[in-house]
Amino acid sequence: MTSPAQGKPRTIDDLDTPAMVVDMDKLQANINELQAYCDTHGLNNRPHIKTHKVTYIAKLQLDAGATGIACQKLGEVEVMVEAGITGDIMLCYNVMGAQKLERLRAVSQLTDITLTIDSEYTARGISAYADPNHPINLVVELAMPDFERTGVQTQEDALALAKVIDKLPGVHFRGLMMYPTTKPEQQQTAAAAREYFERNGLAPEIVSGGGSVDFHDLHRIPHATEVRVGTFNYGDRNTVANGVMTYEQCAQHFICTVVSKPTPDRVILDGGTKTFTSDMPQLDDPRSTFCHILEYPEARMFAQSEEHGHVDVSLCERTPQIGERVSVIPNHACGATNNFDEVVMHRNGEVVAIWPIWARGKIR
Ligand SMILES: Cc1ncc(COP(=O)(O)O)c(C=O)c1O
Repeated sequence: MTSPAQGKPRTIDDLDTPAMVVDMDKLQANINELQAYCDTHGLNNRPHIKTHKVTYIAKLQLDAGATGIACQKLGEVEVMVEAGITGDIMLCYNVMGAQKLERLRAVSQLTDITLTIDSEYTARGISAYADPNHPINLVVELAMPDFERTGVQTQEDALALAKVIDKLPGVHFRGLMMYPTTKPEQQQTAAAAREYFERNGLAPEIVSGGGSVDFHDLHRIPHATEVRVGTFNYGDRNTVANGVMTYEQCAQHFICTVVSKPTPDRVILDGGTKTFTSDMPQLDDPRSTFCHILEYPEARMFAQSEEHGHVDVSLCERTPQIGERVSVIPNHACGATNNFDEVVMHRNGEVVAIWPIWARGKIR
């Protein structure tokens, strides 16, 4: 970032492109809003660090009052723990295989850790490797309707798994986890499961739900003890399209340069899938685009190559010129973040810090 040719950037206009920048004040405002919501409604705040992957930002979230963090991969946990972020870490992933289970045992000696699991196979593997002096917490992931990812399919099977965990050495049953809890039927499923567990004598200590789209609603549902919000801290085009925040609130944006204008109606940016990923919009969108360009809201990135963003500017009143820099908000902040080594932190465009994204690329 600070190559001899470039020198130390004073403002974000000095940065070579594509660049990823985050507005410090907007980030802090989003962190504070999330924390204030949780405080008002008596929910614990467990921000998901997969969005930013930056140890310094995790510390800002904990300083604001978060009770712990969530990670998606063991490698992300290791990075956080190495930076001194210990306490209550949730790893939302079925961890298995000798290599990972040995690493898990090592990290469990340094921090309290809670894993989300959805099978006896995973539970027994973790139990076999757990250090009896540092028991590992397990929460059962309950599958949510309309989201065909992980999770035990019924509350009955979830309880049966919890009972297995309860008897295994080295592990401790801590509660339930769900994702996502956005739709009413998902919230009802989650609420019913909690009651079912309580009726059957295995009251969950934590019920972990949420995500950016539903965090403003979580207090209405009598199921959650905590919220895991990632994207809202940065903001992205999907979060805006879902009505959760405005572009004005988005802390993160990408600076790109127009490198070609092959026709009057089409410009090409110096960022494609290797900058933004190919994440599609979450909501059905007749003018489907890979990003929003702040200076040209009518522009549409209709295609991407690895290093090129193909932008239709036919609906723009004025069109960008070759060499012009534009500010881009991608569909999905978390994936785009994973493409960068550093995040440039700024206040009103003045660079205040360049933070390494230590947890980028930690897919194991
Ligand atoms: C398990 C889990 N929890 C929480 C989140 C956070 O969701 P969001 O980034 O929408 O806040 C995610 C996102 O993928 C997730 O997979």
